[in-house]
Amino acid sequence: MLKIFQTRTIIFLLFTMATLALKSQTPTNSGISPADKSKIDNLLKTMTLDEKIGQLSLFTSDWDVTGPTLNSNYKNLIKEGKVGAIFNAYTVDYVRELQKLAVEESRLKIPLIFGYDVIHGHRTIFPIPLASACSWNLAAIEQSERIAACEASAEGINWTFAPMVDIARDPRWGRVAEGAGEDTWLGCRIAEARVKGFQGLNLKDNNTILACAKHFAAYGAAQSGRDYHTVDISQLSLYEWYLPPYKACIDAGVGSVMTSFNEIAGIPSTSNKWLLTDLVRKDWGFKGFVVTDYTSINELVNHGVARDNKDAAMLSLNAGVDMDMQGSTFLDYLSDLLKEKKVTIEAIDNAVRVILEAKAKLGLFEDPYRYCNKERQEKEIMATENLAFARKLVSESCVLLKNDKQTLPIPADVKTIAVIGPLGDSKKDMLGNWSAAGQWEKCVTLVEGLKNKLKGKVEIIFEQGCNANDENRSGFAAAVKLAEKADFVILALGENGWMSGEASSRSSIDLPGVQNELTAEIMKTGKPVAVVLFNGRPLAITKLHSLAPAILETWFGGTEAGNGIADVLMGDVNPSGKLTMTFPQNLGQIPIFYNAKNTGRPYRTTDPNAKYVSRYLDVSNDPLFPFGYGLSYTKFSYSGLETKVDGNKIQITIKVANTGIRDGEEVVQLYIQDKVGSITRPVKELKGFQKVLIKKGETKTLVFNLTLDDLAFYHPDLKKFWEPGEFVVYVGTNSAETISKTIKVL
Ligand code: BGC
Repeated sequence: MLKIFQTRTIIFLLFTMATLALKSQTPTNSGISPADKSKIDNLLKTMTLDEKIGQLSLFTSDWDVTGPTLNSNYKNLIKEGKVGAIFNAYTVDYVRELQKLAVEESRLKIPLIFGYDVIHGHRTIFPIPLASACSWNLAAIEQSERIAACEASAEGINWTFAPMVDIARDPRWGRVAEGAGEDTWLGCRIAEARVKGFQGLNLKDNNTILACAKHFAAYGAAQSGRDYHTVDISQLSLYEWYLPPYKACIDAGVGSVMTSFNEIAGIPSTSNKWLLTDLVRKDWGFKGFVVTDYTSINELVNHGVARDNKDAAMLSLNAGVDMDMQGSTFLDYLSDLLKEKKVTIEAIDNAVRVILEAKAKLGLFEDPYRYCNKERQEKEIMATENLAFARKLVSESCVLLKNDKQTLPIPADVKTIAVIGPLGDSKKDMLGNWSAAGQWEKCVTLVEGLKNKLKGKVEIIFEQGCNANDENRSGFAAAVKLAEKADFVILALGENGWMSGEASSRSSIDLPGVQNELTAEIMKTGKPVAVVLFNGRPLAITKLHSLAPAILETWFGGTEAGNGIADVLMGDVNPSGKLTMTFPQNLGQIPIFYNAKNTGRPYRTTDPNAKYVSRYLDVSNDPLFPFGYGLSYTKFSYSGLETKVDGNKIQITIKVANTGIRDGEEVVQLYIQDKVGSITRPVKELKGFQKVLIKKGETKTLVFNLTLDDLAFYHPDLKKFWEPGEFVVYVGTNSAETISKTIKVL
């Protein structure tokens, strides 16, 4: 017991120390030194046209495939000086081998940048980004990226294709798993935290890596939630909801930006001069480089804006693209395009310069092997403290969706726990999507996590019952038999890891296969049952909700999934996660998000039968679980909302009491509504939150400070300012359960 206590205390202290340490530091501006500038000026004078174009080309190694392979000749190209960066290559040995080709065999010895999709951890895999967003713990999110950067840079990587900051309101889109959810304000805070985590205080440190804000822009607004599909939204929506997280990355000093696959209002991002030059460079002052997404220059032909790849290369360079990912179009055509005067040497030089500057910022000219350190690779990859941190983040990312009659935590006196379900003991599914260097063999499943925790005290028995995604019911009987032997049943249900992520949209977001049926069978045994959900997107689980008394959303937790979930199930960690994406009641409600407009005919629950109002005939407007929702093993009550408007400042005070029987953390959320605007405003907008530990019986008084800028919004002329008038201030435990007060700001 003492040992468990000590281990837990150490993990907690490590977590707290790490997150506190981060809070007190601000990154230095890793601009270009005069020495680096003159080096780059000289290089630009020395480089041939082919060498310049080479710097603009990024190729994948054959280690990993994250899209179609168009050019496997990368080793020779490196020697010829025709490659600026490589992705999907890691480990000290392999990176060293490729870097050697560049700095020993190419004429100008310009080092390569090594990129990789370090999306939620490198080797130690953390919960998927949507999950860690649900922790609402910005310091922990930042720290997770710090660890990811340390591990990745210990294996030769110095550039990550992250963070993905696409706001998404449609859970059919599989890539919601990679983002922070539906809210723009929270998305901005999380975007900043991730950039800071990756890039650290100084990019020249050998354990920091260049980040990449993606996918620019509005990739998350794909029509019908189908990946790569058209985006067509108003300028106002674009500015108000979709663009701010990319801007937040730029303000946080992100080193690169990736174009998105989609078009916006008829112009694909990869050939969109307004987006890539006017907005990001001129308006926002971005100084890094723009890389395309995988072959997205070539895809301009399919989009129907370019006749062929050559035409596509011209459009992209002229729009402001600096680096062609995997398309080989710059390499193949820029030289001819220059001769034909369809592109200028200035445009090529500008692109080369920002790429060389990135190399300088990373310190690659001083030491091209600075990220190739065997000792670090051995010591830092999956270090004990990284795993301990991952475990804590798993438990902080869990969201308790339902807990009737305090089914959870599992009572301490149970003797046998049956884990039943396709996700109960499946190592491969724990990683979720985009976990390229993560090793599924090292993942801890739920069964293993419970066994680790309860060894010698509780027997853990397991039956799969069914697969996640087919109609086979032949395992039901054995599952029921197993349940009958147990004192408590955990149903481990959800999606397979591959069912979300890129190219993984679903037209139905119900629990797939026969898992609801399995649940119904198990419920008949009369045993206490809790569902543990694994999934990469909000699911429409109305049926499951009607069957099961308790549901814990755990997403895909990564390497330490099973250990972190076991901590929550057994009550060692009191769940504190809150949804950052709405769970609909059914598919037809999509898109459903909390910050919608009121409409001219709003539906009011006070008159549930009103006909000519904005509603459905067959389902209410309410979601199954709203944005910001998540239960705790304890109870919180809110009172004493006070507001004070003083000049430019708005102060909001709230008392939150823990009225339950356990200590617990609460995410106290602050929303505002602008009651009358010159254009319509959402019914609520998140403007702040505080995550606080409140001991049982304790009441905490929290103060939020807003300024008038927090009331500002974009107007039709795309200017952002606030308008005097009445505002409703809401404070509460989620976006639907709040207390409110109206203030006047004149
Ligand atoms: C994805 C990007 C990713 C890139 C490189 C693309 O298919 O859209 O998010 O960074 O591949 O793997």
